[in-house]
Amino acid sequence: MASRRISSLVPRSLPLLSRGGKQSYLGKGIYRYSTATAALEEPIKPPVSIQYDKLLINGRFVDAASGKTFPTLDPRTGEVIAHVAEGDAEDINRAVAAARKAFDEGPWPKMTAYERQKIMLRFADLVEKHNDEIAALETWDSGKPYEQCANIEIPMFVRLFRYYAGWTDKIHGLTIPGDGPHHVQTLHEPIGVVGQIIPWNFPLVMYAWKVGPALACGNTVILKTAEQTPLSALLVSKLFHEAGLPDGVLNIVPGFGPTAGGALCRHMDVDKIAFTGSTETGKIVLELSAKSNLKPVTLELGGKSPFIVCEDADVDKAVELAHFALFFNQGQCCCAGSRTFVHEKVYDEFLEKAKARALKRIVGDPFKSGIEQGPQIDTEQFEKILKYIRSGQESGATLETGGNRIGTKGYYVQPTVFSNVKDDMLIAKDEIFGPVQTVLKFNELDDVIRRANNSQYGLAAGVFTQNLDTANTLSRALRVGTVWINCFDTFDATIPFGGYKMSGIGREKGEYGLKNYLQVKAVVTALKNPAWL
Ligand code: NAI
Ligand code: MG
Repeated sequence: MASRRISSLVPRSLPLLSRGGKQSYLGKGIYRYSTATAALEEPIKPPVSIQYDKLLINGRFVDAASGKTFPTLDPRTGEVIAHVAEGDAEDINRAVAAARKAFDEGPWPKMTAYERQKIMLRFADLVEKHNDEIAALETWDSGKPYEQCANIEIPMFVRLFRYYAGWTDKIHGLTIPGDGPHHVQTLHEPIGVVGQIIPWNFPLVMYAWKVGPALACGNTVILKTAEQTPLSALLVSKLFHEAGLPDGVLNIVPGFGPTAGGALCRHMDVDKIAFTGSTETGKIVLELSAKSNLKPVTLELGGKSPFIVCEDADVDKAVELAHFALFFNQGQCCCAGSRTFVHEKVYDEFLEKAKARALKRIVGDPFKSGIEQGPQIDTEQFEKILKYIRSGQESGATLETGGNRIGTKGYYVQPTVFSNVKDDMLIAKDEIFGPVQTVLKFNELDDVIRRANNSQYGLAAGVFTQNLDTANTLSRALRVGTVWINCFDTFDATIPFGGYKMSGIGREKGEYGLKNYLQVKAVVTALKNPAWL
């Protein structure tokens, strides 16, 4: 998501080959999108094989207690890639027992911070070495463009682990002056056994955001991966053990939400839960914690982020960035800029260019070079997106381009742009999580602030303006966890990320991310005849 790399993935030199809404074939399975549908050619054979398809508990790959497996599918075709061991309550019990032992007795929290750091750094090196293999597996399981995995997401993963490895020996408390003859200090202790639940849209990046800070602080972990994308976490966790991670410190349990995920959230011996996913499921996670042992919960949930293009914006740049803000990762981003507010003075120009840009988007087999958009993750998301597109049409928004599936196989959706969108339409309120851009018009700054904030969500916002005062006014007025000014989706390891309102609780990444995984203990010692206070 570093903008330098992103721009190299966005070829702009190719001429637009289609006019009048035709899909044009550029050869080698690459299409410039159009409103016509056509079957995509045979999917490319992924250059990787599946080696790990079981649960990883106490350092060993094991079958599920029930013996059950579930299929993980290739989003390009809907065909089965592998049958993966399906974790459930009993497997969660086993994983929690292993993590408990590794925390209470095991070497991890007792190891020096420097030793933990070296293991995390060796792991980062190993992931870097296996970059292309991991990227191929991730593309196969998730449908993300291979170049996005190989050039952006895995380097981000590596950076995250190096960043948090650097923190291991810099986590410490304070010595505090008390009111009386007391020596007051705070200890920043690991919180204990941590349960983490991640979604399918960024399987590896979410792994890094969760596991990196938890382990840096000396905790032990049970990670439940998303049922759509269980494979990459198993492969990288194997590498983590090769790097010297002791058994039981990190346990990976693939499985479904209500079963494996629910068991983790209600477990009495889990000390903390971190979750990323839908707002709806986030509420269940919080409730399960409240009904069991009140373990603290951090939540990174949905969004409907405004992308505000002011009258003085550089329109060409704003078009490109608004396109990226929405369509990146097939539109499957919690922080997608999914409400594009454009000032009336530049609205017509913006819309024409935004539509042209969507028409130029290169959709196809994610293993092909130069592909910008692959298939959506699964049939459920695919159907949901098409339903929202129909809802947009029925509610009177103007479908500028797109609106259909591409081909007859897999979950490819045409890059879609709606104009004349009104705030009360479902497509302007709900998280669509797909390649559907909704363009809304505004005239006054106060008006756009009110409308941008009129959402149950508060995850992020984009602001496009050349005016410093406008940027400052908006960045303070918007009730969101991140404001990107003249940029979007800048996700350095150092920058905290999280939501206001129903977009979540807590912050991940950066120094703030450590807070989720530490307890603060005050130790107060009475002093006899102190030389000073
Ligand atoms: P989800 O929130 O249900 O799934 C995310 C994770 O939570 C998965 O690992 C799942 O197995 C787990 N989970 C589901 N039910 C659970 C339960 N009862 N207890 C514990 N864990 C549970 O999201 P889903 O169904 O994959 O997607 C639905 C919508 O959620 C999407 O269309 C999108 O709008 C939103 N979403 C947002 C994400 C984000 O990054 N904030 C990521 C994924 C989905
Ligand atoms: Mg899959």
